Amino acid sequence: MLSRVLKVAAQQGVKSFSTSQQNNVKVVVCGASGGIGQPLSLLLKNSPLVSELSLYDIVHTPGVAADLSHIDTANADIVIIPAGVPRKPGMTRDDLFNTNASIVRDLAAGCAKACPKALIGIISNPVNSTVPIACETLAKAGVLDPKRVFGVSTLDVVRANAFIGEAAGVDPQQVNLPVIGGHSGVTIMPLLSQCKPAVNFSQDKIKALTERIQEAGTEVVKAKAGAGSATLSMAYAGARFAISLIRAMRGESNIIECAYVRSDVTEAKYFATPLILGKNGIEKNLGYGTLNAFEQELLANALPELKKNIQKGEDFVNKN
Ligand code: NAI
Repeated sequence: MLSRVLKVAAQQGVKSFSTSQQNNVKVVVCGASGGIGQPLSLLLKNSPLVSELSLYDIVHTPGVAADLSHIDTANADIVIIPAGVPRKPGMTRDDLFNTNASIVRDLAAGCAKACPKALIGIISNPVNSTVPIACETLAKAGVLDPKRVFGVSTLDVVRANAFIGEAAGVDPQQVNLPVIGGHSGVTIMPLLSQCKPAVNFSQDKIKALTERIQEAGTEVVKAKAGAGSATLSMAYAGARFAISLIRAMRGESNIIECAYVRSDVTEAKYFATPLILGKNGIEKNLGYGTLNAFEQELLANALPELKKNIQKGEDFVNKN
């Protein structure tokens, strides 16, 4: 059993950084005993950029609110939340709402008290709704800064890069494909027209790749046959996102990641696009550029679902 809050010793590498950079980055992982939480914590522990890592979970311990008070002294810079139940075969991400909504609400309330200035990355599904839940909870507590709250959609980008790399015969590490919208089914919108390096597939292939990227999570849920959803690839993607936040916090320029955030890019109040990250979270929302006809259709299909998911999250906080 992991204890509720477990502080992990700092890596040594931070000492060599210049004093103009922020050297003492504290990261908290909420849901650290889980399938994602454990390997994610391991990867963060292994990063020289993380000077203190706090692991938090509720396994075998009652009383979320009481537990959260243990984080008060952490005053974290970054909180990553992979807490909550994952899918089983046949489930949609929205089927997780009833269990995970209150978990994310309670953890966001804990952040509002313990570390209101932290950058918060939410992995718990359904991300389309849990990010609005976190934002409304922080707003209720009077500490919301929408530039500091992120739905972690990095796994969609990682998957897209892997699949495109494979299909185009290119090293996936060299592929950079923006994935915008939300994080479920039709709301996941890979923009193949903006892929770098440029790829040249038939329209049928583009459709097939788009659908595979949209349903990649379900591919893993089916393959795990009841033993959960993506954990290792998500830990990899979560660590990539957290480390990008840290690098931006430390003053590195031009750190760009796609994430699901409060947005005025479309009529949906939350939307994933490429973002320039900075010391205080989102420095600049880069928007989604020019969409071709196929991608405009993806957007038209995504928006009603996204808006419904967002409303459901907001109602959960404001009508309860
Ligand atoms: P898991 O069940 O293995 O782990 C979840 C952990 O959260 C457990 O250790 C549990 O004790 C803990 N937990 C529950 N309530 C908590 C609370 N109030 N405070 C702290 N910890 C709490 O699940 P797994 O596989 O790690 O997945 C976690 C979440 O991540 C799921 O909601 C899943 O759908 C989501 N996910 C998101 C992805 C994304 O791309 N954003 C990709 C894959 C999964």
